[in-house]
Amino acid sequence: MTECAQQRNKEKNYYIISYGCQMNQYDSECLAGQLGAAGYLCTEDPEKADIILINTCCVRESAEKKIYGKIGEFKRLKTANPSLIIGIAGCMAQKDQAAIFKKAPHVDIVLGTHNINQLLDLVQEKQSHNEKILAVDNAVKRSTLDIPAARNGQISAWVPIMYGCNNFCTYCIVPYVRGREQSRPADDILKEMKELAQRGFKEVTLLGQNVNSYGKDAGSSTDFADLLSVIDKESGIERIRYMTSHPRDINDKVLSAIKESRHICEHFHLPVQSGSNAILKAMNRGYTTEEYRSLIHKIRTIFPDSALTTDLIVGFPGETDELFEETLQFVNSIRFDASYTFLYSPRSGTPAATMSAQVPEKIKKERLNRLMLVQNDISLDINKKLEGSCLEVLVEGPSKNDQDTVTGRTRTNKIVLWKKTGQDIPGSLAHIIITHAQTWVLKGERC
Ligand code: SAH
Ligand code: SF4
Ligand code: F3S
Repeated sequence: MTECAQQRNKEKNYYIISYGCQMNQYDSECLAGQLGAAGYLCTEDPEKADIILINTCCVRESAEKKIYGKIGEFKRLKTANPSLIIGIAGCMAQKDQAAIFKKAPHVDIVLGTHNINQLLDLVQEKQSHNEKILAVDNAVKRSTLDIPAARNGQISAWVPIMYGCNNFCTYCIVPYVRGREQSRPADDILKEMKELAQRGFKEVTLLGQNVNSYGKDAGSSTDFADLLSVIDKESGIERIRYMTSHPRDINDKVLSAIKESRHICEHFHLPVQSGSNAILKAMNRGYTTEEYRSLIHKIRTIFPDSALTTDLIVGFPGETDELFEETLQFVNSIRFDASYTFLYSPRSGTPAATMSAQVPEKIKKERLNRLMLVQNDISLDINKKLEGSCLEVLVEGPSKNDQDTVTGRTRTNKIVLWKKTGQDIPGSLAHIIITHAQTWVLKGERC
């Protein structure tokens, strides 16, 4: 939202707030792009807005509760200004549909994940008829180049390569609210990346719920490995990342495309979800811990300086103390650079929500705390080994908390902080020697 500050104006303003994953952040940029094209300006102050959009997530119940709380906060503004338009977009909108109007009667528009492109038409309809609008289609083919996204940064950008998911992990709501996989044409992706490079962007993260399936739905001859090779050579982007890779689907062809590339970063985010084979099976993940372990061995042999991160869910139905111990042992033996850890949250409509042996909340929380302690020790230990090494860092800019400190990231996606030097131009590459490693950040100085 940093660009908003300069763009305020007295006429038509919009305020946007986003929850959830990077795909949702990107969708928010598309919503903002449409409003920008129609002459609306971005504001960081909801009090000044003519349109308030909340782009929502429903992956866990905690996210939903927070969002309904936020929606409630805007009721006061709607009462004070009845012409204010309040729109709820994204995954929770797709899931709850008209029920949102019941829970929050001050909401004007509910806009599903397949209707993102229609925002302006819906706003116009609302302005001319003043009736509530529900636009939640089931599966619309998303055209991919017709909305200029209003990017939130100037150095790093998101570029979706596919929408939706076909995996149906038994805990997960995403396939129900995002639909089946739809790959974007490789030419569109390349065109968008070239334009970003011309505008000075240095880093692109390719987005998809399961990027390794790229191209399969379209029967395309370009698979994910081919796509990586092409954009590595032709896009002009300095650093290319991607997420999320499914451990079942990342293959040798992808690994060799990364090995042969110059710009694809050596950071592997491979969500394992659990370290117990019984739980992985119940989750429908499609791999065993042994297969995951041998994949990691292969990756670390090919990319000795790579970083590995993961997602883990604790308290999946049927997770006994013993099975949870298997996860702890697995985490201890794989040694991830970092883990994103979640309490299992039953999502109605998913198979896991009705499985027997649901784990009590208190036990889930205890397990999460234990897991986080184990992971934090490992992260610190791995980072400590980087002390004394000189790393290539993409400069992002002054740190939010301290203007005398500059922040950037390594190719392995670790955050680095160092004292401002006068040469720290955002978007440039700096070489930083690590002097003090912490669990979440590396501190250093120019080499
Ligand atoms: N497509 C990605 C990410 C999906 S959502 C992938 O497959 O990895 C991001 C993470 O949220 C998941 O990796 C999972 O760890 C977590 N998650 C999804 N559903 C959840 C649920 N019902 N409860 C708790 N965590 C969940
Ligand atoms: Fe959800 Fe599994 Fe698809 Fe990821 S791969 S979005 S966890 S169903
Ligand atoms: Fe949430 Fe939807 Fe992303 S449910 S995690 S915003 S795909």
